Amino acid sequence: MLDIKDLRVGFSGVRVLNGASFAVRGNTITGLIGPNGAGKTTLFNCVTGLLPTMQGGIVFDGAPIAGLAPERITQAGLVRTFQLARGFPRMSVFEHLMLYGTRQPGERLWSAYFNSRAAARREAELQERAWQVARRVKLDHVIDNLATDISGGQKKLLEIGRALMADPKMILLDEPMAGVNPTLSRDIAAQLVSLRDEGMTILLIEHDLELVRMICDEVVVMAEGTFLTRGSYDEVVADTRVQEAYLGHRHAVAP
Ligand SMILES: Nc1ncnc2c1ncn2[C@@H]1O[C@H](COP(=O)(O)OP(=O)(O)OP(=O)(O)O)[C@@H](O)[C@H]1O
Ligand SMILES: [Mg+2]
Repeated sequence: MLDIKDLRVGFSGVRVLNGASFAVRGNTITGLIGPNGAGKTTLFNCVTGLLPTMQGGIVFDGAPIAGLAPERITQAGLVRTFQLARGFPRMSVFEHLMLYGTRQPGERLWSAYFNSRAAARREAELQERAWQVARRVKLDHVIDNLATDISGGQKKLLEIGRALMADPKMILLDEPMAGVNPTLSRDIAAQLVSLRDEGMTILLIEHDLELVRMICDEVVVMAEGTFLTRGSYDEVVADTRVQEAYLGHRHAVAP
């Protein structure tokens, strides 16, 4: 579903991705793990078009997407969530979902001008979809609350809901369970498994290895801006190179 080849990215001369290559099979939950600073978020930024790549190829669902604008990549069916809860605008949960449901930029304006009945129908479909998504991520009971007022965990769920509004084939999740209480984090995990069971492909950055063990079909390990290894959870954690990558990092940051 996603094929990443030899991605290279640097910030002011410092190499952050140094030839990262790996592929993600369709209809799996693939865990992306690695020590802090390994380049996982940077890789998401490149794949989703937020960062220009110096070099490398990205093929999504059979089509090259490297260099496309983020909206084009979303339209192709690849969406991501963000590691840090971004500032939410003062909008209700419902309005927030509706906003991300409009796929084509300018679509509303265009159809409102030329065909108001089609626009009304589209609006009704979107509203239905926003409700479906809200029920799915268990936010229907707070759907009229301001997005700024819901809990941190609910914001994470809204971030997933927002991604689902684009009706994606694949989602990239950057630590969706970080800082969430254990009950909600199990809820999110169950959501991801059911999305996978319905055919979705998921690439999940997650530091909680127990969660990775529970829900990931495969695990890809990155270290120092490059691909280190892949396999089942048990295979990668037994790999001494993986253990060294984590240990080496801990030594490096130890006071
Ligand atoms: N905009 C930027 N400018 C300069 N350096 C950056 C920038 N973004 C990331 N980096 C550096 O790139 C490296 C990789 O960062 P990245 O955030 O991709 O790692 P990560 O694997 O997601 O780490 P974590 O697990 O802590 O989220 C780090 O050394 C980081 O300091
Ligand atoms: Mg990160």
